[in-house]
Amino acid sequence: MSKKNENPAEGKEPESSWKDAIFNPRTGEFFGRTASNWGLILLFYLVFYGFLTAMFVFTMWAMLQTLNDDTPKYRDRVASPGLAIRPNSLNIVFNRSEPLGYGQYVQHLESFLHQYNDSEQAKNDLCMAGQYSEQDEEPQKKVCQFRRSLLQRCSGMEDTTFGYAKGQPCVIVKMNRIIGLKPAGDPYINCTSKSGKPLQMQYFPHEGTIDRMYFPYYGKKTHEGYVQPLVAVKLLLKKEDYNSELFVECKVEGSNLKNNDERDKFLGRVTFRVLVTE
Ligand SMILES: *[C@@H]1O[C@H](CO)[C@@H](O)[C@H](O)[C@H]1NC(C)=O
Ligand SMILES: *[C@@H]1O[C@H](CO)[C@@H](O)[C@H](O)[C@H]1NC(C)=O
Ligand SMILES: *[C@@H]1O[C@H](CO)[C@@H](O)[C@H](O)[C@H]1NC(C)=O
Repeated sequence: MSKKNENPAEGKEPESSWKDAIFNPRTGEFFGRTASNWGLILLFYLVFYGFLTAMFVFTMWAMLQTLNDDTPKYRDRVASPGLAIRPNSLNIVFNRSEPLGYGQYVQHLESFLHQYNDSEQAKNDLCMAGQYSEQDEEPQKKVCQFRRSLLQRCSGMEDTTFGYAKGQPCVIVKMNRIIGLKPAGDPYINCTSKSGKPLQMQYFPHEGTIDRMYFPYYGKKTHEGYVQPLVAVKLLLKKEDYNSELFVECKVEGSNLKNNDERDKFLGRVTFRVLVTE
């Protein structure tokens, strides 16, 4: 098998042609091409890729010119907001005798409500209740006050554990921001028990209303400091509600906002699980 390689005459020939393939001193070819040939190829690719890059940059630039910083270009025809809750968990489980367990929920609510501090909100405008705050022309949009004290027993001001220590937890329902949204009618949040037996609940502000004055929202840049209106729901659990799994569904009602889309279970509604032990 190795007989061939032992023959020096035969081994020499392929070696020299292999070297010639890289650089052939007789013709001055490097990898089979002369220097000027290589130069032309290099130039061609340089021009070719330069042209591609220029075209890409130009297209990108031209497209960005058509975008507006304040409003998205493409939106759903009938935009409807999703609902979310705070604390940021759809599974609220705690033992009301163990502050370490529910502490995370309390902390979450507390930090979420900081921006709603009455002292912070005093800087914002007092708006006319029941009226949209339309201000399309103003370059700097005013922000309507939403003071956390509106949430009364769920504001965390008097009851610093938001009812968790008493086994009657508060959950804050918020609607996601949608630029330009003006809900028709008088939207309010309505929560119901989905686990068979009815639950007593208390809403803050009264009747879970979401005032029209917080709409429309104009976008992050022009509507600096905007805060969404909130609705707090206090679950007035009794002794017999403890140690059992409860499902609560909250929906936005009283307006044209969608709340029963089959494909999107967060569109205008949210369902969460609560389990309180003692
Ligand atoms: C909000 O108020 C609480 C006490 O009520 C205070 O501890 C907190 O620092 C305030 N936050 C801001 C951002 O002002
Ligand atoms: C809340 O929803 C429940 C169930 O859908 C309904 O029976 C009740 O009348 C609603 N409450 C209000 C105030 O709309
Ligand atoms: C709740 O916490 C109390 C005090 O730590 C304890 O005695 C009780 O067994 C706990 N309940 C449950 C269901 O774990």
